[in-house]
Amino acid sequence: MKLKTLLVSMMASVTLVAGAAQAAELSIVSGDTGNGLAFLRSQLDRFEAETGHTVTVVPMPSSTTDQFGQYRLWLAAGNTDIDVYQTDVIWAPQLADQFLDLTEAAADVVDQHFPSIIESQTVDGKLVALPAFTDAPALYYRKDLLEKYGKEVPTTWSELEATAKEIMDAERAAGNSEMWGFVFQGNAYEGLTCDALEWVVSNGGGQIVEPDGTISINNEQAAAAIDRAAGWVGTIAPEGVLGYMEEESRGVWQLGNAVFHRNWPYAYSLGNGDDSAVKGLFDVAPLPMGDGEGARSAATLGGWNVAVSKYSQDPEAAIELAKFLASADVQKERALSQSNLPTIEALYDDADIAAAQPIIPNWKEIFQNAVPRPSAPTKTDYNEVSSLFWSAVHDTLSGNGSAAENLEILEADLQDLKGDAW
Ligand code: GLC
Repeated sequence: MKLKTLLVSMMASVTLVAGAAQAAELSIVSGDTGNGLAFLRSQLDRFEAETGHTVTVVPMPSSTTDQFGQYRLWLAAGNTDIDVYQTDVIWAPQLADQFLDLTEAAADVVDQHFPSIIESQTVDGKLVALPAFTDAPALYYRKDLLEKYGKEVPTTWSELEATAKEIMDAERAAGNSEMWGFVFQGNAYEGLTCDALEWVVSNGGGQIVEPDGTISINNEQAAAAIDRAAGWVGTIAPEGVLGYMEEESRGVWQLGNAVFHRNWPYAYSLGNGDDSAVKGLFDVAPLPMGDGEGARSAATLGGWNVAVSKYSQDPEAAIELAKFLASADVQKERALSQSNLPTIEALYDDADIAAAQPIIPNWKEIFQNAVPRPSAPTKTDYNEVSSLFWSAVHDTLSGNGSAAENLEILEADLQDLKGDAW
């Protein structure tokens, strides 16, 4: 071999080796809601092209409760197969020990995000995840039907009940036998904790466990709110609502078979999709309020983040991926195509986003006033607290005991769980 050829080929292999050392094979887990997985893939394709890394998606069910159960097992076993986790806003205190501290890596971008969201992902000074989007639900309503029957958008649960029933009955009488008044998430899982927290807070019934750790759920206003919701099942809502999560309720709504629907902002872009029967026929409003003392419209604070497993074999590349998915650029894409609420304040003034998904600027104030679930005060017990709460609510909705009876048992169970822990 001539010297020049030899040199060139040596240089080529050095480049190859250097390239190989840098290019990582990463994997990320993701729940499957709406077309979220397809969106994620489209962004990962960009990341792969920009960095040379490859990323495999491990799809999970859409239920946050199912995801949490699986991730907790994997992390407890020190699973090295998953580098990046997408995490629900409530999980930070429970999984903090298993994720890398992103404080230093995110120092250059952390100020772009709403401080309260960064705080929700900070546990004992450790930034356990970077925010990808925030969440606060809406009351979806059919503009066309309210107009047809001369009705206002309800601002109280009593108005919602009356309007839902009147329109449902009239539509059924006119031959639309599939029509329901209101669909929401009534399955026994984390989503029911969100819905029921809204019923309770909106009726002045407190936040289950208060920020100082006081167990407050056993009170008359909370019981009245849950009994009221129990009255919806089989009247304005189908019996099947007891098994609905977000996607099932969205299914009924998007077929055009509900007057009102409680869901998160992701249902906004999907509802306006070409395959949706309600495209262009609906709008959103804040959720209704109760009528007790202290009643107000209440939205539960949700949201998703990206965390890096401390068992990742390639932490640097994994952190690069987490930062990419939380970046302003990807958050803008996510807002435009998924109508997810950004966690980066500047994007609420973005004209493209406002034009494509008007819910987003309108929801800034709603998510800023949203009610957090008691995951901070109950620390590592949150999942257990939530599961006791959603079970008590599900029992009541199913006709197994009154809310007062079930909340009394819940209070005792929560006291036992609490002990001296929180
Ligand atoms: C949404 C919220 C999340 C919540 C879940 C409940 O995904 O963003 O915080 O736990 O719904 O189903």
